[in-house]
Amino acid sequence: MTVPTSLKGPNLNAAAVVPAAGRGERLGPGAPKALRELGGVPILVHAVRALARSRAVGLVVVVAPANGVAEVRALLTDALGERESAALVVVPGGETRQESVRAGLAALPADIDVVLVHDAARPLVPVDVVDAVARTVADGAQAVVPAVPLADTVKQVNPASVAGTPEPVVSTPDRSTLRAVQTPQGFRRDILDRVHAKAVAEGVDATDDAGLVERFGGRVVVVPGHEEAFKVTRPLDLVLAEAVLARRRSRVEY
Ligand code: CTP
Ligand code: MG
Repeated sequence: MTVPTSLKGPNLNAAAVVPAAGRGERLGPGAPKALRELGGVPILVHAVRALARSRAVGLVVVVAPANGVAEVRALLTDALGERESAALVVVPGGETRQESVRAGLAALPADIDVVLVHDAARPLVPVDVVDAVARTVADGAQAVVPAVPLADTVKQVNPASVAGTPEPVVSTPDRSTLRAVQTPQGFRRDILDRVHAKAVAEGVDATDDAGLVERFGGRVVVVPGHEEAFKVTRPLDLVLAEAVLARRRSRVEY
């Protein structure tokens, strides 16, 4: 097998698919999560910039809420600057994250060999993480997931049917063997297309794309993620994200 030496160019053509069609229910009332602002800039714009700044990414496919495609396209076209040279495509999303990713995959040109799937809800992912994931696929991995060690000990329980009821503990997995996974997750395009098609045929639902590869017998590897690649899910995450942005801005200024 030839190992590509360049991330962009004739050897390897990478695109990013950005599911951004969720409502953000856990964030509370307001605009769809991808359009909520951080530092005065929509979360989705932060996420797309982070991808487009990677030399590995030549195309970004954003999967927007079905009734917001034109708005999202206009927003991103205005927001992307000179440093962000990737081409942009915006398509409508589906009812689930998996359906939205599938809509993004369907919009990829035939010459794309590597796909990075990145949640719009992870706006502050450092470009080094994007590069590292793309490089690991370029070096021959089928599927790559950035991840971080867990801070908390995790217990497996028998979930109670009524919230607030004490739940019996079943076991305590060895924390040193656990990782919290992030995005972008990177894939050989043929493999990601195949597992998404199988998931439809067999009615399989997974919370992440690498989970589908595992489910159908592919090999997934983990590379170091970054604490700033956390997902904006609940209101407190917005507070943290604003603080991270403020810290970045103060470092640039002084
Ligand atoms: N997503 C999507 N299409 C859906 C559901 C989710 O594109 N039908 C996207 C979200 O926009 C987000 C990513 O998948 O960027 C991860 O999902 P999550 O963090 O759960 O976001 P939401 O589904 O929007 O939030 P919630 O579950 O709180 O409603
Ligand atoms: Mg969700």
